[in-house]
Amino acid sequence: MISQALRDARRYEEIYEKEILPEQRPLFHLTPRCGWMNDPNGFSFYNGTYHLFYQYYPYASEWRSMHWGHAVSKDFLHWEYLPAALAPDQLYDYLGCFSGSAIQTEDGKHAIMYTSVRMAPEIQDEEGGIQAQCIAIGDGVDYEKYSGNPVLTEADLPEGGNRYHFRDPKIWRASDGTYICAAANCTADQTGAILLFRSSDLMHWKYWKVLVANKGRFGAMWECPDFFELDGKYALLVSPQDMQPSGFEYHNGNGTLCLIGSYDESSGTFTEEKDQAIDYGIDFYAPQTILSEDGRRIMIGWMQNWDACAIRNKSELWAGQMTVPRELSIRDGRLYQQPIRELSSLYRDTTVCKDVQVVTGDTVVLEGVRGRCIDMTIHVRPADPERVFHKFSVRFAQKDNLRTAVSFRPHEKTVKVDRKYSGSCRAIVHQRRCLVEGSGNGVITLRLILDRFSAEVFINDGRYVMSAVLFTDLAADGISFFADGEAVIDVESHRLS
Ligand code: FRU
Repeated sequence: MISQALRDARRYEEIYEKEILPEQRPLFHLTPRCGWMNDPNGFSFYNGTYHLFYQYYPYASEWRSMHWGHAVSKDFLHWEYLPAALAPDQLYDYLGCFSGSAIQTEDGKHAIMYTSVRMAPEIQDEEGGIQAQCIAIGDGVDYEKYSGNPVLTEADLPEGGNRYHFRDPKIWRASDGTYICAAANCTADQTGAILLFRSSDLMHWKYWKVLVANKGRFGAMWECPDFFELDGKYALLVSPQDMQPSGFEYHNGNGTLCLIGSYDESSGTFTEEKDQAIDYGIDFYAPQTILSEDGRRIMIGWMQNWDACAIRNKSELWAGQMTVPRELSIRDGRLYQQPIRELSSLYRDTTVCKDVQVVTGDTVVLEGVRGRCIDMTIHVRPADPERVFHKFSVRFAQKDNLRTAVSFRPHEKTVKVDRKYSGSCRAIVHQRRCLVEGSGNGVITLRLILDRFSAEVFINDGRYVMSAVLFTDLAADGISFFADGEAVIDVESHRLS
């Protein structure tokens, strides 16, 4: 039975999506059908297609009571909207249907596990609501909330667990067929832990153990866990709140963390070996992954940061977008990301320029290299290895005083994304730097993906990635290259359409 709240949302989005012209959205990055989007949810393969749900408020471009929006794709680039999947329409979730995941059941159904939020008379306002985990079963379009919801509540938490911060279940099947759920919880020390629960039927769950406890190392509460095997290792992705900076690795506020280690499935023991940020740019949070039909581990994140949401005016018809889906691998103990290979199906005009000299005082513009939807790779090297240049920059989304830049300073071994001049008039973070190991010799590869309202920079084959949104007027489509010193570049640029 479809509730009135869900019917209303579906009717509303069908009408209001028409107000948004295709060119007012990115070309291939998913945006909400209308209104607000945050985290990706339920990224899964079902009925021959990839499903991506998202935290959604259709009625305004700001975060309010959460619904689940829904889109499907065969190639991770062309998305088709389906009707909203969940609305907050039950007593136990009327404050919102928060993030979660999805899986195909043994009997061929599509199961969603999400966080329900409810108010209770004894709650003080500032505590938010009581969070629990719920199941909804569907056919890929319509989902019915399980009559026994919620299936995991505060009663299932270990001692010291916090019922106001118990969310974002990620479910998978262990090799013996058991369903495992990893959910985030705030522990007695006021920082995060990822808890594991087990079930044989998705409806009845038992607490198992702590997968990883933050113990105050990386921010406070952790959100949105994902956990998977990759290249002989295991990776835990989480999004910590309230982080303190640490060198160039972690920045203040909401961040992202990848823990790489080994995992013993039978005892549920994860042994941490390495930690790193997932994305070093400004806008990236709450990523989820999927195993594609051909065995690739693909990640998609919310290309926005909670503290920088003010960059988008609330009067706009949509707010929030996803990153380009990224293929993951682990090499030398690090998480690498590459834009999904299907992107080459959007290549239209290709420009290749080799051995271009970029020297102090010159502005280099290359014939055919411009636009706001491009995939451009720049190999940079010094003209003379004995005299490494001080700085190399590529500017884009450029016209008159408008521009966004990616700059490389070999003497600092840093790459900086700077959107100060992107047209934003808000006092939020507009720059961020990333330390690139081994780049002191002035050799670097920058792959820049622009899709109208965003820039994603993949450095040295995806060893580091920096993402940022920009809402510069689309008429600003110039691209130019600068150096302080003498650099030489090879450029390969593809226009995307
Ligand atoms: C992360 C998050 C999740 C929560 C959702 C609510 O961005 O705070 O922890 O489920 O957003 O929209």
